Amino acid sequence: GQRVGVHAVARPGAAKARRTMPVVEAKRVAVLGAAGGIGQPLSLLLKMNKCVTELALFDVAPLVKGVAADLSHCNTPVQVSAHVGDAELEACLKGCELVVIPAGVPRKPGMTRDDLFNINAGIVMNLVTACAKYCPNAILEIICNPVNSTVPIASEVLKAAGCYDPRKLLGVTTLDVVRANTFVAQAKGLDLKEVDVPVIGGHAGITILPLLSQTVPSVTFSDAERKALTSRIQDAGTEVVEAKAGAGSATLSMAYAAARMAESTLLGMQGEPNMFECAFVQSDVVPGSPFFASRVQLGPEGVAKVNGLGQLNEFEKAAMEAMLPELKAQIEKGIAFAKNPP
Ligand code: NAI
Repeated sequence: GQRVGVHAVARPGAAKARRTMPVVEAKRVAVLGAAGGIGQPLSLLLKMNKCVTELALFDVAPLVKGVAADLSHCNTPVQVSAHVGDAELEACLKGCELVVIPAGVPRKPGMTRDDLFNINAGIVMNLVTACAKYCPNAILEIICNPVNSTVPIASEVLKAAGCYDPRKLLGVTTLDVVRANTFVAQAKGLDLKEVDVPVIGGHAGITILPLLSQTVPSVTFSDAERKALTSRIQDAGTEVVEAKAGAGSATLSMAYAAARMAESTLLGMQGEPNMFECAFVQSDVVPGSPFFASRVQLGPEGVAKVNGLGQLNEFEKAAMEAMLPELKAQIEKGIAFAKNPP
């Protein structure tokens, strides 16, 4: 309930109040892959975010210059810069405290997230290597799929560079929570703004596990409802991939979700005490799975606490057992790639 709001806009009457507000700490945020389907609307939302002072946009596509020029005309105080190609990664990343990474190819109909592995693994490795060099203390938020593998890849790169801090590496699974909240609110006729469904596990197929039994406000589901909602949340990405018919995957809802995640992170960094989000992080919550998505508390250094899973019902326990081999294999695939890149 403490959210500043990604949609916060200055109103004329608010000018006086704003002047008396405490000075906000300088926060330089980078978006890597800023010219893409997610990168563009995410950059717009960050340009509107009161926690951000500088926005550094990077892409291999020169279009990022145009995106930055365009955004720079919005009369919000955030300073926007554009950086093209690997030679400009240093200028982009220097001084960054938060780096959000939506770079990478998206799915087409018939593809799983794992089908993206070969291309996106290399992109993440390259970008995180640069982060380790130019902003080793920054918090990294990885959107690039398959998240279940790209986050372990990033951890290995950071370890090799001697700057791995597990509190500062997060796979972005916020979209799964956003979808779960929306679908449950619609199914149960609840206020969209009030519903909160934790989603745990990973970010692909059956590794996405919404804990419907822990929905706030408390609601009950029939077996059929529970099964249908869980499947829809797991396959929601594919719904969008098919509707876009070859032109990409979720971009706008993803940008919305990533902006929420970034805002919660920035507020946590500023000392806001009650910032919680689900994210795919290094974890010992589930034995044998070195990374796992669950609710985390965000603090001055990123992840302050990884919460336990709470009470699971029988349906959720079975889904958890079913996902674990797949999740572990995808984590191991990432680690193996990073240790022995092609
Ligand atoms: P897109 O193709 O529209 O944009 C990707 C951008 O990345 C392009 O501008 C491209 O030039 C850039 N890029 C490629 N290689 C790069 C490199 N080495 N360095 C910097 N930039 C580079 O794709 P879209 O739709 O924005 O998706 C991006 C990624 O996000 C995909 O991997 C997709 O699977 C993933 N995604 C993740 C979600 C999640 O919930 N975590 C949800 C939706 C998509």
